[in-house]
Amino acid sequence: MYRMYDLIEKKKRKGVLDEEELRFIVNGFTDGSVPDYQMSAFLMAVYFNGLNEKETFTLTMLMRDSGDVMDLSAISGVKVDKHSTGGVGDKVTLVLAPMIASLGIPMTKMSGRGLGHTGGTIDKLEAFPGFQTSISEEEFIQNVNRYKIAVAGQTKNLAPADKKIYALRDATACVDEISLIASSIMSKKLASGADGICLDVKVGSGAFMKTIKDAQKLAETMVDIGKRANKQTVALLTNMDEPLGNCVGNILEVMEAVESLQGRGPKDLMEVVFALGTQMLMMAGAAQDAKEAEDKLKNTISDGSAYEKFCCFIEAQGGHRSDVEHIDSLQKVSFVQKVKSTNEGYLSHINAERIGHASVVLGGGRAKKEDDIDLSVGVRLLKKVADPVKIGEKIAVIYGNDEEKVRLAEKEILESCEFSDSCPEKIPMVLEIIK
Ligand code: URA
Repeated sequence: MYRMYDLIEKKKRKGVLDEEELRFIVNGFTDGSVPDYQMSAFLMAVYFNGLNEKETFTLTMLMRDSGDVMDLSAISGVKVDKHSTGGVGDKVTLVLAPMIASLGIPMTKMSGRGLGHTGGTIDKLEAFPGFQTSISEEEFIQNVNRYKIAVAGQTKNLAPADKKIYALRDATACVDEISLIASSIMSKKLASGADGICLDVKVGSGAFMKTIKDAQKLAETMVDIGKRANKQTVALLTNMDEPLGNCVGNILEVMEAVESLQGRGPKDLMEVVFALGTQMLMMAGAAQDAKEAEDKLKNTISDGSAYEKFCCFIEAQGGHRSDVEHIDSLQKVSFVQKVKSTNEGYLSHINAERIGHASVVLGGGRAKKEDDIDLSVGVRLLKKVADPVKIGEKIAVIYGNDEEKVRLAEKEILESCEFSDSCPEKIPMVLEIIK
């Protein structure tokens, strides 16, 4: 029998914990026998001293096994999943999932809600009246077998240990430690049951990871966990230094996703979509090389099959095709305000976090998990980094339902833009692929 005090002491002194010791901690905290104050001290010791690769993997598996592990064996084919570490304007799943499914590859996606300045796929899909995100495991499997695609919110019993530990990390300033982030994300991905996991690790001002070095470490740690768990895992480091695409805000992002499926997607967004899709197709054995994968993906847009698959997916989960076709009518706002530049030159930087914050200020994001959000509000950028801008030229449009909040969002947008005299070099969208 262990004593929590001794295990905290061991980690405080940089000791390495074995599987049984970690089991005592994770299971004890989940069942309530280890109190919050001791777990907080333990997490802070991990924050300062870290976990080695084996400890990180063991923690992941203990959190995965604390609840249900989805059994997707009733779905034939290589099931693929993607995960983004969170960004601003990130509607990649909405575009990519139907593209993958339209090629006959089963796309099984567990998604979350937005928190803080980053959005979540589940909130965006709820923009469609009637759309059900809390579908049963049976329905999820049935839909993937029938349509090759299903997207569901996380069930209550998916990695409950992670849920409880994350809440405590959040309250005790212990979120931003790489082995804790990696084990938290991967415990849920492994519990979701897919065969292949493609990770989109965002880097830059709008991301959790602000530097390439931290993003690389997080990506390597998650890929290592995936491999140890015998899952095909690949991570892409992608640029989140300015918002992805032009739209930020739930319905606005769904609109942009639909436009992208119709062949009118912004260049930066589509670059990330194709890069992730290429890895997923190769994982599923549907393409021998990157060129073949990208050609196949592009065809799903040009022949309309990805758009058709999106409509079919929305209907399969309770939404209506007519809402996809008339998506503009879903947005209900009282104020549409143009933002005019007070500066001139080339746009050298748009702080993605601040644009995300502008959307939160308008009511489109949550400060706390239980907050309600306004799906209609948000920001459409009319200019992106490296575009020339004149004083008085329109750089963005704000959609809001409260005049004072619109004013605050305008200030936030103007302050998020930096200018230079010469045209800045664009940062590549895909910075690195880690396998
Ligand atoms: N997302 C998660 O699921 N867990 C973390 O620890 C951080 C981000």
